[in-house]
Amino acid sequence: MPSYPASASQFLGQTIDSGALRIEAILGAGAFGVVYRAIDIQTGALYAVKRVEKEGNEYYQARERQLHSHVSSHPHVLTFHREIHEGRYAFYVYDLCAGDLHSVIKEAMFFREDELIKRVFIQIIDALEYCHKHGVYHRDLKPENILVSALGGDMDVFVADFGLATTSKMTASACGTPCFMSPESLVAHHHSYSSVQGDVWALGCILAEMIGNVRPWSLATPEDSDYSHYLMDRTVLFEKLPVSHTAYLLLRKIFSTKPELRPSLAAIRTEVLAMDTFFVTESEAGNCGWGDRMEKQKLRKLRARGVVAPPSRHSSDTSSSGSYRFETCSLG
Ligand SMILES: Nc1ncnc2c1ncn2[C@@H]1O[C@H](COP(=O)(O)OP(=O)(O)O)[C@@H](O)[C@H]1O
Ligand SMILES: [Mg+2]
Repeated sequence: MPSYPASASQFLGQTIDSGALRIEAILGAGAFGVVYRAIDIQTGALYAVKRVEKEGNEYYQARERQLHSHVSSHPHVLTFHREIHEGRYAFYVYDLCAGDLHSVIKEAMFFREDELIKRVFIQIIDALEYCHKHGVYHRDLKPENILVSALGGDMDVFVADFGLATTSKMTASACGTPCFMSPESLVAHHHSYSSVQGDVWALGCILAEMIGNVRPWSLATPEDSDYSHYLMDRTVLFEKLPVSHTAYLLLRKIFSTKPELRPSLAAIRTEVLAMDTFFVTESEAGNCGWGDRMEKQKLRKLRARGVVAPPSRHSSDTSSSGSYRFETCSLG
């Protein structure tokens, strides 16, 4: 059950924008905002509305608004409509989506769905290429910040949450959500690092999660045992994820410790399009101990689609949804 700030429910049933929009339900919450479903009372159109506290956050909010509106016209960037000010809060009005990629991954919706992974991942790459071309670097890419139009196989995706986006090609601060941050951004007293390559690293984390429904590590630092195993032996990715050899090679390139060696978005796009499969074959899965885990994913997917009845008890969800984000030092 997601938890929301105590003040989240106080707006339910109320109207904002001089009575134009009525807030109907809570859709989600992140580090800085609560997102509601709202209805335009005149037209009946539904929107998502993010509420943020204004005081002390004006700089970040202005940046989020400006950068998001700058790229909002791309078909796979969430459409940002307008902002409304009500007392101590600002409300941003967006297109309403069906949920986020994190919930879809949790239901194992991508399990053995090569064409779906391809389509969705290419949409994310296209949106990100557009942002980069327009001088906007996201810096907080993760499944929770990618929204979906539907919870089934016909979904389209939209890059959202430009709260940490920047126009600076180089980032001087530690910035993002820890398990999606690149190793160079996590080094103490680091020099500035490439904002583009930080986004590319996070893309690799998203692809890994789409394939395996797990995060390969919590933090890309040698102190993290999963990441330090990866540093010692890249092939541990085969143990963590049910990846095919070609998907492994792509992830390995993206997870290069040298940012300048990571592939460009165009190169990733080409490799993804050419990928025969992202998954180990059934027989390889049996040989390398993936059999049981693959069965679980299969069952989870069937349950999500209503083909198999859900378990009577709450099934355990190992994926962490409680990620947080931070931004320190100078802003750029
Ligand atoms: N347009 C939308 N339609 C449906 N759900 C949304 C929408 N925007 C955000 N959400 C939900 O709210 C969550 C938090 O929104 P986000 O913009 O990421 O806020 P924060 O800046 O606080 O992280 C998202 O992870 C998603 O689950
Ligand atoms: Mg967010």
